[in-house]
Amino acid sequence: MVEPIKVAVTGAAGQIGYSLLFRLASGEVFGEKQPVRLQLLELPPALKAAEGTAMELEDCGFPTLDGIDISDDPNKVFDGVHWALLVGSKPRGPGMERNDLIKENGPIFTSQGKALNRANKNVRVIVVGNPCNTNALIAQHNCREIPATQFSAMTMLDENRAKHQLAVKAKVNVGQITNLAIWGNHSSTMVPDFENCKIGGKPLGDVIKDRAWLENDFFTTVQKRGAAIITARGKSSAASAASACIDHIKRYIHKTPEGDWFSAAIASDGNAYDIPAGLIFSFPMRSLGNGKLEIVKNLNLSDFARKKIQLTIKELVEERDVVKELLVK
Ligand code: NAD
Ligand code: LMR
Repeated sequence: MVEPIKVAVTGAAGQIGYSLLFRLASGEVFGEKQPVRLQLLELPPALKAAEGTAMELEDCGFPTLDGIDISDDPNKVFDGVHWALLVGSKPRGPGMERNDLIKENGPIFTSQGKALNRANKNVRVIVVGNPCNTNALIAQHNCREIPATQFSAMTMLDENRAKHQLAVKAKVNVGQITNLAIWGNHSSTMVPDFENCKIGGKPLGDVIKDRAWLENDFFTTVQKRGAAIITARGKSSAASAASACIDHIKRYIHKTPEGDWFSAAIASDGNAYDIPAGLIFSFPMRSLGNGKLEIVKNLNLSDFARKKIQLTIKELVEERDVVKELLVK
């Protein structure tokens, strides 16, 4: 009898929740022999809707779904969990930047950070709710029992977006694009690193010669893709965000293929690329396949990339200042 993996999902009745939960329950992520117990958190007015989603999950007949618990109490929901996916928070609307949400969404992550003290000691916490880097910082500061290294914020959607843009430009399948790192904040200052990227195993510069496109159109398209989706749909990305969260978990669980990397925002220890210690910063990461991640060191960064990275550092420092009252020393 295999013990179930307990996965907490906050904001379970929301848009992302509706795409995420079915894939978590289906066996796709943790394997077909691994039972999954879903522990869902919602605000009281949305509990009924979460129950509706739970009914649909049951109706899928997934043999891997061990059971579903729903509550508005984070202490109950995070109890003993192995994964905590912090999605629940307000999305931005048209014309807003993600950090305009900071005052409203930031406080959610103080109480949830405290409640995460009840999680399994090996829990991996992934913050999706925006502004996700700074929300992850708040949650991590408010959680004394879980090491900072077990918290991350999601920049996988940005990586996937960047890979798509490059694949179209190079006229190749997206699977040919590897070694694509997003540096910094999940915001319009993020740095999609095309200089260290590979296409079909070759340096990107051997395949895409149009440097002006890379520095301008490519950069801003990736940085502003979330806003473009809000303009087009009237709502922020949901299925692609859920899919990126699934990718983030899979990339975490499985050893990264030799020579490749992926993007995730983790607490800087100050020892890599001169990123100030403590910031939740997206780096090129590798999974060792044993639940541990490491930063890929010694990548070459041009003056162009370094200048862009300074801008995203500055923004993250400013966000940290805005929420300093919510950070436990
Ligand atoms: P949504 O409004 O559809 O759903 C959010 C859900 O969270 C709602 O059901 C709401 O009741 C619930 N919620 C709010 N506060 C809560 C709390 N304190 N505890 C538990 N539940 C709570 O929003 P969505 O489209 O699912 O997006 C959720 C968040 O994810 C937003 O902040 C959005 O900006 C962010 N997002 C991040 C990325 C990324 O790449 N990091 C991508 C897409 C969306
Ligand atoms: C995204 O990148 O799609 C999300 O962060 C939602 C947003 O506000 O852009």
